[in-house]
Order: sequence, then structure tokens, then C-alpha cells
Amino acid sequence: MERIARGRRGRSARKRKGGGSPNITRPTPAINDLWYKNAVIYCLSVATFMDSNGDGIGDFEGLMRRLDYLHGLGITAIWLMPFQTSPGSDDGYDISDYYGVNPAFGTLGDFVEFTHGARQRGIRVIIDLVVNHTSIQHKWFQEARRDPQSRYRDWYIWSEKKPPNANEGMVFPGVQKSTWSYDQEARMWYFHRFYDFQPDLNTTNPHVQAEILKIMGFWIQLGVSGFRMDAVPFVISTKGAQVRKPVEQYDMLRSLRAFLQWRVGDSIILAEANVLPETDMEYFGRDGDRMHMMFNFQVNQNLFYALASSDSRPLAKALAATMHRPDTAQWGLFLRNHDELDLGRLTEEQRQLVFRCFGPDESMQLYGRGIRRRLAPMLNGDRRQIELAYSLMFTLPGTPVLRYGDELAMGDDLNLPERNCARTPMQWSAEPHGGFTRADKPVVPVISEGPYGYQHVNAAEQRRDPGSMLNWTERIIRMRKEVPEVGWGDFDILSTRDPAVLIMRYDWRNNSVLFVHNLSDTPREVAFATGLEGREGRLLVNLLTEYHSRAGRDGKHRLLLEGYGYRWFRVGGLEYLLNRSDIETPPRG
Ligand code: GLC
Ligand code: CA
Repeated sequence: MERIARGRRGRSARKRKGGGSPNITRPTPAINDLWYKNAVIYCLSVATFMDSNGDGIGDFEGLMRRLDYLHGLGITAIWLMPFQTSPGSDDGYDISDYYGVNPAFGTLGDFVEFTHGARQRGIRVIIDLVVNHTSIQHKWFQEARRDPQSRYRDWYIWSEKKPPNANEGMVFPGVQKSTWSYDQEARMWYFHRFYDFQPDLNTTNPHVQAEILKIMGFWIQLGVSGFRMDAVPFVISTKGAQVRKPVEQYDMLRSLRAFLQWRVGDSIILAEANVLPETDMEYFGRDGDRMHMMFNFQVNQNLFYALASSDSRPLAKALAATMHRPDTAQWGLFLRNHDELDLGRLTEEQRQLVFRCFGPDESMQLYGRGIRRRLAPMLNGDRRQIELAYSLMFTLPGTPVLRYGDELAMGDDLNLPERNCARTPMQWSAEPHGGFTRADKPVVPVISEGPYGYQHVNAAEQRRDPGSMLNWTERIIRMRKEVPEVGWGDFDILSTRDPAVLIMRYDWRNNSVLFVHNLSDTPREVAFATGLEGREGRLLVNLLTEYHSRAGRDGKHRLLLEGYGYRWFRVGGLEYLLNRSDIETPPRG
């Protein structure tokens, strides 16, 4: 029997054409404690979370004092954005020393205190690994440009002449002019996939590769549980003036993992790789021997299209296309992150629809392909649709990754350039600057005007209000932890006549859960069969409210969903835990 990825193919997956099925067997007995399979990851930047010493910049001391807040929210892992020494021209994604903490944020000592404080509360920490490029100020680049004999010369990518394709392949079109710039000191051209102050490392150079391992080893030793690896397709691509079409060297991923697994067995890599589903298995590895996790960009873009169009079908297609993966691998499921919402993989027509709905003004769009706003303003602050979006994020196959402030439905500041609009400080209270800092002027301004100003949107106030977004998020996280089927199980998309309604069922170890989402703003009535024979499928226990569902005589459930309504059900009675098996069970239904 085919036991690839996470098991059998769902109804919609069967429609999928081609897509070779890698021959992977489920490890028996399964490892039960792969923590990342069912984590709740919270992404934050130390610079904008909490300022403890009043200099207007967030720091580790401040972050530490907020660990109890995060613990209370129920998250199980923090993804910490770059905090190493950096001139900060790309919000820290331009590192000038991989082995030090940016002095504005604290010391290495503070960092270790922080990871320790997190661990005491059962929270793991993963950090960004930004090794596609360094800052132009990194001493490796400084030496490389100065001295052709330097050992660092070959750590970067040079060309005597301006390469013919210098004006192609920019990641930030419109802002970034080229991918090659002339360096006066070296009298050569250097390659930079991103901004010109981010020279690409020559990642095929074995010395560079050894250094990358050293960087990983260093932070692992200081208590992190792994890495969110930046720009992975570019890290592993061939680079150089001669390269017409970059080719990915996938085997590099294997050695990164092998090293990590040897040093600390339960540490992971979460890859940022916005790639087509056809290449997913190259990143995960057919034997599950490469990346542990990847962000699911395919589902992300189609999810926003589904929200904009009230049509679940392209989303179902994206779910089917990304269904296959090794048992030990996991998707990172997200709505918004610190970058623009990249819609580059949608069709032109689909993209324009999402623009019209969620970012109609040109000032809200970026790089010709995305929307730079935060989630709440994109959805017009409509609480029903915001809940729907999060309910989807928490119940689609994978591990949810939240962004700081989204638990408060924080807004954005479109006066700030590029992606900075969605990177404003956390809004803690109605005190000056939202309680983020005692400084007169924070380095990044706190949102202080309009409906998203800290006076109206802040954690202190929402904590007191049982119906707030904050308390909703806390409750949904609590429930998400009690449905491990989502992270571990196999899923099926159940058919309905109404494309606005998405129904999914997950099965795992004799237990099943079922989720219903109405993507449209009008009420919908749906009838569906759970696909499970026998008595069990006749009762659906509602996990969020009181309205359970009993199947009619024909075995079908009938639900009336309000606009943007969602339901979380457990199939069968609440004695499910007694039925749960300790080992994998044959497919249900
Ligand atoms: C990734 C990051 C982005 C950064 C870029 C360059 O795409 O998410 O924020 O600008 O890499 O490091
Ligand atoms: Ca500070």
C-alpha cells in the first residue's frame, strides 16, 4: 500500500495529475514527540516587542518580561527574527556579525537568559538563519573587496565585467535596480539577489558551507531549537556571472540537517521557500532527510484568493497539491508575515481580484506582486472574517505560525516605507506609545491614530474583555492543542454542492475531527456525509459552542452557517480519548 507523505490521497488529491509518488514508508513505530508537528509558533522581532531601558528600541530584557504573556496565550514556540549585529538596513536581514547580539537589543548573556526563561515555560525558540548574504559591512566582505588575495575573496560572487543579466532576477522590483553592483574598492562587480547592501555569499564554497554549520552550532549551543532559514532556494542555487539559469543544489539541505541532528537531535529547520508544489519533495527530501518544515506559500496565496472570492476550490486544489510529504515533515501555515503578502503564484485575474478586495489602493501594494498590509485592515476590521481566516489557519494541515500583534488585530502604518508598515511596535496598553517604551520617541513609531491606534487596540484592554480578539485567540489555541489530528492525521476534503463552503475531516489513530468554513458573507445551508460509516459518524460534537449535529435518517448532517461561519466538530462522542490508538491505524471511511 502506498504510504507516502501523510498517508492516503483525499478525494480532491485523487484528481491531481502526474506528481510522481515517492516511495516512502511510514516509520514504525512512529516517533510520537516530533514537537514541531503540532506546535503553535509565534513570530516576533525583539526590536518592536518591548523596550525595557527607555531608548526607544525593544530589547531582550523587555521581551523576557513579556514571556508570561506569551505563555498565557498558549503558544509553544517563538520564531525570533534577526537580532544579530547589523546596520539594520533590511530590518536585521543584513547581518554584520553572526556570533553577536546587536548591542541595541542586549548582550549574549541576555539572549541566553531569554532562551532559558522561554524553556522554563515550555516555550521553544527558533531563530532566523540568514546566510544567503551578509551585510556589506561584514568584515568578510570588507576584506574580500580590499584584498584579492584575502581568503574571503572567494566567499562572495564577483565579475570583472557587468554581467549581461545584471538587470534580471531582482527580489524587490521597483526598489532594487539590479542584481549586480560595481564595487569601487574591488573594481569588480558583485552579485546580490536582494538589496545592493546584501552581497550574496558564495554558498558553494566549502569554507562558506563550513562557516554556516559553525553558525548553526553556535546558536544551538546557546539554547535554540532550530532555525527559520531565510531565502532557501537562493542559498542553494548556483550563482555567478556565467549562470544563466540558477540550479538548486538540493543535497546541501541534507548536510545542514545531518549536522543539526547530530548536534541536537530534536532541533529543526523551517525553510522559507516559495516554490511550486512539484519541487516540495526536493526540499523535504524523499526520505524526509532534508528540511523538517516549510512555509506553505501555495496554500497561503490560494487562501487569500478563497477569502476574496468566496470560492474554496482553488484552495482545495492547493491543499491537494501540497498534501504529499514525508511523515516527519510538516508545513508551516500562516496568514501574514513580516513581508508583503506575495501573490506571485496566482493567475493575473486572481491576483487582481485579491488586490481589489484587500489592497485596492496602489499604496497598499508592493513589488507588483503583493499587499503590504496587516491582516485586520485588509479584512476591513471585520471580526467575523478575521475569525474565519484564523480558524482556517488553525485547521489547515500543518503547524500554525502567528505574527505578533495579530492576536489583537493590530493595524498597519502605510506612511512607513515598503514592508515596514506592518512592523510597528506591539501595543500593550493605552499608556503613551502603547506601553511599548518610556522614550519620548520610539525608533519605530507606534500606531497612534485611527481605529487601530494603541488607544483602542491594546493587550491590557483586550485582556479585560472576554469577547476580545486576544481572548478568542487564546481559546482557539487551547482547542487547537486538543485536536492533534490536524498536525498528525490524514485529511479528506468532503464534497458539498456549495463552493463557498469548505469541509475537511482529519483522521488519526482511531479519532476524527471535522471542520466547516463558510467563505461567503451570506448564510449557507449545507448537507454532507462525514464519510465514516457506522454509528460514530452520526454525531458531531461541537468543540466551540453548544450546537452539536446529529445526522438525519439519510446519514447526512445539515448545517445552517451564518456568513463567515465556522464549526469545529469532533466525530462521535467525547470518549474519543479512550478510543485513541497508540499506533497508526488503517485508513478510515
Ligand atoms: C527573506 C525575508 C525578508 C528579507 C529577505 C532578505 O525574504 O523574509 O524579510 O528582506 O529574505 O534577507
Ligand atoms: Ca531598549
